[in-house]
Amino acid sequence: MAEQPAQRMFTPEHDSEVEAAGPPTPVRVIELLAGYMVSKTLFAAVEFDLFAAVGPEGVTTVELAERCAIPERSARAIADLMVDAGLLVRDGDRFRNAADAEAFLAGRGPFDLRPLARYWDTVSYPTWTDAATAFRTRQGVRAALTEAQTEAYEAAVALVTAETAADLAGAYDFGGHRRLLDAGGGFGTFVKPILARYPHLEATLVDLPEVAAAVTDQTAAGPLATRLTAVGADLFTDQLPGGHDAILVANVVHLFPPERIVELLRRLREAVTPDGRLLLVDWWRTDVAPHPSARFGAGEFLMISGGDLYQVDEVARWLSESGWRFVSLEPLPPPSGLILAEPRPV
Ligand SMILES: C[S@@+](CC[C@H](N)C(=O)[O-])C[C@H]1O[C@@H](n2cnc3c(N)ncnc32)[C@H](O)[C@@H]1O
Repeated sequence: MAEQPAQRMFTPEHDSEVEAAGPPTPVRVIELLAGYMVSKTLFAAVEFDLFAAVGPEGVTTVELAERCAIPERSARAIADLMVDAGLLVRDGDRFRNAADAEAFLAGRGPFDLRPLARYWDTVSYPTWTDAATAFRTRQGVRAALTEAQTEAYEAAVALVTAETAADLAGAYDFGGHRRLLDAGGGFGTFVKPILARYPHLEATLVDLPEVAAAVTDQTAAGPLATRLTAVGADLFTDQLPGGHDAILVANVVHLFPPERIVELLRRLREAVTPDGRLLLVDWWRTDVAPHPSARFGAGEFLMISGGDLYQVDEVARWLSESGWRFVSLEPLPPPSGLILAEPRPV
């Protein structure tokens, strides 16, 4: 019998060429299993604002400890793992930010990913503790959010959806509409650029009371004060404001299981004017595999409240069950897309 090489749990180097030629090693599996340790270390680094603390000349672990107000052993442990992860670069006894850490995690670049890290750390991570229950039951497992968690969630959503919101304002012609209802509008990431582009338009944003109150605070003193009304309401149990000839539902459908979506679509159908339109913007599945940038979506949306990444044809079916007529799927930069629907006469 040919002698097999001794299998080792931990090997110093991950050599993919050797691995491709030889028998499999456990390295990749172990790295994936330990992924949460890397994430949690990175979350801690963001909480300590470690990447902002690293200046262009680099830092020692003593300086890092001082600037982040953490013990030096912790600074060293975090810095070592961040070097492994590629976010810090070791230069003798000094550490510098890698280019992407400097651009996205130091608060000095044009695009700041720290709000996303804070949301994943303080809301998403604790929720995923019950992932197996959610996958088994298709029920959401997220606990009610504190005020700080709501703020972290909405700030992260706003960050992630801002580009699509700008795309939609440019891609869809709101010129023929008079009043827009933004259902589950969050911090107003979608409605604000639309109102900026279409000065004749008025809008109502509906979201949970604490979110709507934050939007009212943000807009009270600005130019949108008279054109945007934020209403605190539950889309499933409260009366929805009427008189809107465009209803936008952006990144909300993915939060719910199919039967709840049909219920929501029915309620929106009752609220829309007869000449109105429904605009569903979301990360739709149009292909066998989800778009790579949406690959966490199906799990995350399930954890939150039993949702999923849905296929366009199933949404078209739910639209027809709830009194709408599917009009088209309009492209937006992936992974988003815009589904247009019209009310079917009753
Ligand atoms: C993923 S966010 C999308 C926010 C915004 N449309 C965007 O794309 O930036 C989903 C929003 O739906 C709101 N939401 C969830 N369930 C709701 C409900 N039952 N009633 C009202 N709003 C709800 C959340 O508070 C959150 O702001």
